[in-house]
Order: sequence, then structure tokens, then C-alpha cells
Amino acid sequence: MRSFEHTGSPVRVVFGAGTLGALRSEVERLGRRRVLLVSGSSQPDVVERAAAGLGDLLAGRFSGAAMHTPVEVTARALESASDADVVVSIGGGSATGLGKALAVRLGVPQIAVPTTYAGSEVTSTLGETADGVKTTRSAPEILPATVLYDVDLTVDLPVATSVTSGVNAMAHAVEALYSPDADPAVDALAEQSIRLLAAGLRRIVTDPADVDARADALTGAWLAGTCLGAVGMGLHHKLCHTLGGSFGLPHAGTHTVVLPHAIAYNASAAPDAVARVAAALGRDRDAAAAMYDFVVEVGGPTSLAELGFRAGDVAEAARLATARPYPNPRPVTEEGVTELLTDALAGARPAGAPDFSWLTDQVVASFANAPDARVRQLLSDLVRRAHAFANDNDLTQDEWQYGIDFLTRTGAITSPTRQEFILLSDTLGLSSMVDLLTNSRTTETTPSAVLGPFYVPGPPAVAPGADISGDLPGIPLRVDVRIEDTTGAPIGDATVDVWQSNEDGFYDLQLPDLEGPVLRGRLTSDADGMVRFWTILPSEYPVPVDGPVGQLLESTGRHPYRAPHLHFLIDAPGHRRLITQLFVAGGAYLDSDTVFGVKDDLIVDFAPGEGSPPDGRAVEGEWRVLTYVFRMG
Ligand code: BEZ
Ligand code: FE
Repeated sequence: MRSFEHTGSPVRVVFGAGTLGALRSEVERLGRRRVLLVSGSSQPDVVERAAAGLGDLLAGRFSGAAMHTPVEVTARALESASDADVVVSIGGGSATGLGKALAVRLGVPQIAVPTTYAGSEVTSTLGETADGVKTTRSAPEILPATVLYDVDLTVDLPVATSVTSGVNAMAHAVEALYSPDADPAVDALAEQSIRLLAAGLRRIVTDPADVDARADALTGAWLAGTCLGAVGMGLHHKLCHTLGGSFGLPHAGTHTVVLPHAIAYNASAAPDAVARVAAALGRDRDAAAAMYDFVVEVGGPTSLAELGFRAGDVAEAARLATARPYPNPRPVTEEGVTELLTDALAGARPAGAPDFSWLTDQVVASFANAPDARVRQLLSDLVRRAHAFANDNDLTQDEWQYGIDFLTRTGAITSPTRQEFILLSDTLGLSSMVDLLTNSRTTETTPSAVLGPFYVPGPPAVAPGADISGDLPGIPLRVDVRIEDTTGAPIGDATVDVWQSNEDGFYDLQLPDLEGPVLRGRLTSDADGMVRFWTILPSEYPVPVDGPVGQLLESTGRHPYRAPHLHFLIDAPGHRRLITQLFVAGGAYLDSDTVFGVKDDLIVDFAPGEGSPPDGRAVEGEWRVLTYVFRMG
């Protein structure tokens, strides 16, 4: 199951052809009357039309928007209408950015009319430059109130700009697909965005005036911007930011060159997200190569060299882009980014995943003559999955060696009284998986649970009603359980082995100073199937953590605790052996047992005892009673 948090964007979006004509009514819809109209220097005729449409609502205008939103430009723009009650921005990312800077300063809403595929019109982030330093902040009030997408305004966008701006938008969608904050809604928007942008740009390059193609691209850009506003971005955005901010490379062009390489970098760590990118581009695999081929197809730049980046800048750019950690599917290392930048500098086509299946096939074929069919099946499948594991994760020599060392240490600590391999299997849930497969296929019998390492065969015989606690401290517990078959008939003469931890969570095997076996014993069911004895309430306890498994738990942030439980191993002639545990309802770690052994049907009320304790036992203070019916198949 996938858990997520999603907040819907409150931006009002008006999309269509000629929607600029609705500008005045959108201003009025917000209840505003004094418009500050801002833009860059391009498309002066569009700005003129907007001004005419606003008529007497126009309080001031400014057409000097600049890249990276310098604060001195914002200050000058403010002088144009410091009493404005709404800001209207027309243009690409620079105009939208200036609009945001003004709207937050004035505390008024913004209407954005984007003319490129930047996407920033639907985000609540503002990047501003002061004294050459760019700082970025996010706040709900930065988000424009209304976005007017007028497809007609994008028809004149030069093809080259359409391509880089469009691929820049695609980058938002790609990084959204593998963002840790993504959710099903964002996934759907991102995938559809890539599809629409790809379809739109392919047609725009052959016919820039194709209004339907323009509509597809602009819709894709809106969806991509929505992704950008909804989730955090990764390596690609960070790297492009560095290349733009510190090396002066053009924003959208840089995104276009870097995107295929960023996808290649993350492909092994986010295979599902990357597969969706490939699918959205119309390929069934190799998203990185598919994106590169797409950029070539639509005539975009493919090398950082053609944008002015130099080989001598690679090391510094890699250092800057990895200076501070941030979320990204594959860990971001200076070495990895250096390789990425070297490829991007040269404009190399990212290689598709190499196909090493011939090796797997050879190994599998080597088992073909194994006489035992089951051995053949298990070994062949194990090899296939182990090879796929190495391949899919791009396993490095160091990681493989670490795994070998880990298993070597696991073997070294294993002894007749310490089985670290079983503990490894337990903590990876493999023991519980095999247990489920073997023992829990019917609902009529009591579910089983793992044996664990603390069982000792042939425990001391215990008389009915006797106490197995050896006077160890703890809350006295009376156990009255019944053994039945699946028809409900009692099973007499069943051998019932029980064992448990003491009040501090230790088994007798772990306490060398303790005399003899204690808190364990063998009972026999009577003719009514009943087994009765006294003990103490079991406690939660950690599995042994002084070996490699303990290191694994610690390094993955997992606790080592088992929920409090009592073990049972029941043998009865004519019935399948039942190995199980009963868990104390309300006990600690029931929902995070470190060996994944808890099953709902095995959580039992260890109820407070009432009246006089059975078997004439004298008990001072609190005592508990466990009653349960075991059903054997
Ligand atoms: C136990 O319940 O005794 C146990 C099971 C698996 C690992 C460690 C302990
Ligand atoms: Fe146990």
C-alpha cells in the first residue's frame, strides 16, 4: 500500500484560445480595480492589447522584467503603481517571477498570463537575486490566484524556445515521478504532461502555427507546473540551478541537455518511474535514450559544450551540485555527477541498459542435467533472481564484496547455541514467509509462528498445574489451554512444549548463571484436551544484536524487539505438528515485531485473574489468566 499526503492547488485556471480577452472580467472577478501590468520586452503588441482590454482598470505598467528577478528591478516596477490592488504578469518565467515578487510585496493577488512553458505560474516559489546572490523561498501567498492560458499567445513562440521550454517543463514531470513526495494524482499528471508535451512539440516543429499542437504543449506545461508546485525536485533541477546560477548557462537549454543524463543517472534507483517516462515517450524501455532521441528529433541542444560550458568547469560544477544533500532516488555523489556532466558536456547519447542475459542463460543451462527436478527449479530460479538483483540495482564490486563479508561474519558468529543465519532469515521476514507457505494454508487450524532460536528439544516434564517459572520474579500467569481437532473434539495425550522469556526479556539459555532449564517445559494434554500450568507474564525482548544482524537492524533504523509472547510446540499422533506463539494483547511492538511473527489470531487477552487462583495457589497482588483453544489439522 502506498501512503501519501496531497493538497490540491487552489489556482483558478482559464484555458483556451483568445482567453486574454477575459482579462478584465478575471480582474473584476477578484473584486480588484487597480492593475499593475508587468512584462518583459517581448510581445509588446500582446501587452498593448492587454492594456487596452483593462481600460480604466490599468493603474500602471512596467515592461522591464529580467531573468532571476533582480530586487532592484522589482523596486523600480513598484514605483509604477504602488497603490495597485492586483498584479497582472504577461510573459515567460521572468515576467511571472516579477509578478510574484510584486504581488507578495504589495499583499495583493496576481493574475499570470504565461506565454512559454515555464510552469512557474502554478507554483508558490519565488527566486530573487540581490547583490548577485539568488535566494528562493516558498509561501502560499506567492501562488498566483488566477492563470490565463491563452494558446494564441504561444503560437509565435519561436520553435527553438518552444522546444527548450517544453523539455524544461517535461523535466518537472520526470522528477515528480520519482519524487519522494509523489502520490497517485501527481503521477497521473506527470505522465500525461510528458505525453502531451511530446505530442505537441513533435507537431510544433513541423508546423509552429498548429493551434491544437500548441494547446497540447501548453496543457502539458500546466500539468508539469502543477507537479513542480506539488512535490520536491531532485538532482536534475539542482544541477541545472547550479549550471545556470554559477556558470551562466541558459535556463531552458540547460534543462534540455541535462534531462536525458539525469534520467540515466536515476534509472537503476527508480525503475518504475523511469519506465513510465519511457512509456510516455512511446518507448517500452530505456527512458534516458528515449529522451535524448526525442530532443534530437525536435532539434533541441544535446551538449553542454554548445551552450558554452567548458571541460574545466566540470569538477567545480560537480562539487557545487553535491555540496549539500537533497532527496534523489540514487545517492548523489561528486564522482557520479562528474560522470554525468562529462557525458552531457560531450552530448553523448545515454547508453541503454546492456543486456547480459546470455550470462544468466548459461548458468541456468548448467543445471539442466541435475537429476532432481526440484533442485533444478530452485537453483535456476535463484540464479535468475540473483542476476536480476545485481543487474537491476547496478550492483558495484564494493557492494557485492560487502555482501560477501556480511555473510562471512554471519557464519563466523554462528555456533551450536547461536544461529545468526536463522536470525537473518527471521529479521528479513523469510522465516515467516516459509512458515506461512508451509503451515497457514487453512483457516480452520491455529496459525503457526516461527520456532525461533530458543527452543531446546526435550524440555523437562511438567506436572499438570505446576509452575515453570522457577520462582523467578514476574506477574503470575495461569495458563489454561485446550487442544482440539478441526471438528472441535478434544485431543488427549498431546505433547505440549512451552518456553518463554523472563520479566527482563531473557531466555534461560541467555542467563548462564541460572540453574537448569527454567521457563520451559513439556506438558501432556488430558482427556479433555486441557493443558494447565503456572508461569509468569512474558515480556518484550530484543533479538541478539551483537552480531551482523544487529548491525543490519541498527544501520537501517530498525528496533530489535519482539512483541511479548509465549511459545508452543504441540505434537499429537495423527495430527500435523503445530509450532506457534501467543502474543499478549496490548503488549509492546505488536505492530512492528522485528521478525514479522505476529498474526491477529494469535494476539490474546492475558486477562486479569479474578477470585481465588486455581490449584490452591497463594498469589499476592496482580495475576493473569491465559485461556486459548488450539486447533490442529
Ligand atoms: C523467538 O521468539 O524466540 C525468536 C524468534 C526469532 C528470532 C529471535 C527470537
Ligand atoms: Fe521468543
